[in-house]
Amino acid sequence: MLFTWAVRTQVAIVGAGPAGMLLSHLLAAEGVDSVVLEARSQDYVLGRIRAGILDHCSVQLLQSVGLGRRLTEDGIEHGGIYLQCEDERQRLDFVDLVGRSVWVYGQTELQRDLIAAREAAGQSIFYEVADAALYDIDTERPYLTFIDGDGLPHRLDTDAIVGCDGSLGPSRASVPESAKQVWERTYPYSWLSVLADVAPSTDELIYAWHPEGFALHSMRSSTVSRLYLQVSNHDTLASWTFQRIWDALARRLGDGIEGWSLRRGPIAERSVLAMRSYVQAPMRYGRLFLAGDAAHILPPTGAKGLNLAIADVALLAPALSALVRRNKAELADAYSAAALRRVWRYTHFSWWMTTMLHATGDPFDAQLQRSQLHWLYSSDAAAMGLAETYTGPPLAVSDL
Ligand code: FAD
Ligand code: DHB
Repeated sequence: MLFTWAVRTQVAIVGAGPAGMLLSHLLAAEGVDSVVLEARSQDYVLGRIRAGILDHCSVQLLQSVGLGRRLTEDGIEHGGIYLQCEDERQRLDFVDLVGRSVWVYGQTELQRDLIAAREAAGQSIFYEVADAALYDIDTERPYLTFIDGDGLPHRLDTDAIVGCDGSLGPSRASVPESAKQVWERTYPYSWLSVLADVAPSTDELIYAWHPEGFALHSMRSSTVSRLYLQVSNHDTLASWTFQRIWDALARRLGDGIEGWSLRRGPIAERSVLAMRSYVQAPMRYGRLFLAGDAAHILPPTGAKGLNLAIADVALLAPALSALVRRNKAELADAYSAAALRRVWRYTHFSWWMTTMLHATGDPFDAQLQRSQLHWLYSSDAAAMGLAETYTGPPLAVSDL
């Protein structure tokens, strides 16, 4: 039998996505050591193209923990968004409405910053691990076993395990059925996402309702556009030629209206993304804590998935620090309920943005959607509600 390497750490983190890497950074700042286990290679983790908007709350946190330099230099601050209903486009001014802005900064860039910061600090990260399994999570001495990238078996003893391993990882599944509750909704449409090497045709994001389907114009830089189209759940990439994608984007985003036109360019990446809402509660079972996509999935229309993962670990880090350094359990005991308050706020917001902006083919739905959009155009109170959650209400440890 192979010798098993046994290591001990204060906190074991499963998953090196934004939640896991930021948590290891925040814990280190609290004087808590951690080990991160990741199933994929570092190149794979860095290459995943996902979210693109950091809200005010995330930006403040990242800046306060030394992760704001590239974000401030290379990110693009946006003071609002455009909301479009057929051929009418209106701007919501977040700064006027709630005094906060958001930043365009790709998740890939944030992941790069997190990896650079953790590597500079000597963080222990195992990439390409297999068979990560959690044991004794309902005791004060949980442990994990896994196979490292060279095929060597390990045992990792710890005071607490944090599942930051997304919706398919082993953590959420380790909670017994009798100890958890799950809420889930699958939407009857998907997103076709496009990354195009062309200058954005807008200065701020355009969220567009159109009877044919939703479209979103986002960006990554002054030379790269990020665009999304509502497609059917049965659509495949093969049925969406480059020409068909650009034609649909142009129609839905209002090419030709009041002199606006959509710039077209080479498409570097395309994929289809299913849309669902999922919440698992509680976000803690014994010494296992869940954070980010491991505990909840949001449809992307409100741009909240990444920001919610950041908010979870911002609450969790001080709670774990108190638990493992001072054996004080109060904050850890409060974590799940506190995190779930924001989870449900963002779950509702993402559901609302999604159902307001996606065409269903039902004429009654269409009238309600038009009515909601015109309400947002005409009422500061309504617009303020959208702006407040889109830009991310501030985080406070007193939330715990
Ligand atoms: P993840 O980033 O998923 O990280 C989890 C990590 O755990 C991964 O690195 C994974 O490889 C690892 N892992 C899984 N299983 C194991 C295992 N067995 N052992 C060890 N490690 C494991 N949000 C938006 O706001 N806007 C968007 O446009 C948007 N687009 C998205 C597109 C896609 C295709 C996806 C999947 C998500 C998108 N999201 C978007 C959501 C956003 O990217 C996530 O909310 C965010 O990545 C959550 O971070 P996380 O660290 O919790 O999870
Ligand atoms: C992006 C993604 C979103 O889901 C969204 O609501 C806004 C922007 C993006 O990838 O840029």
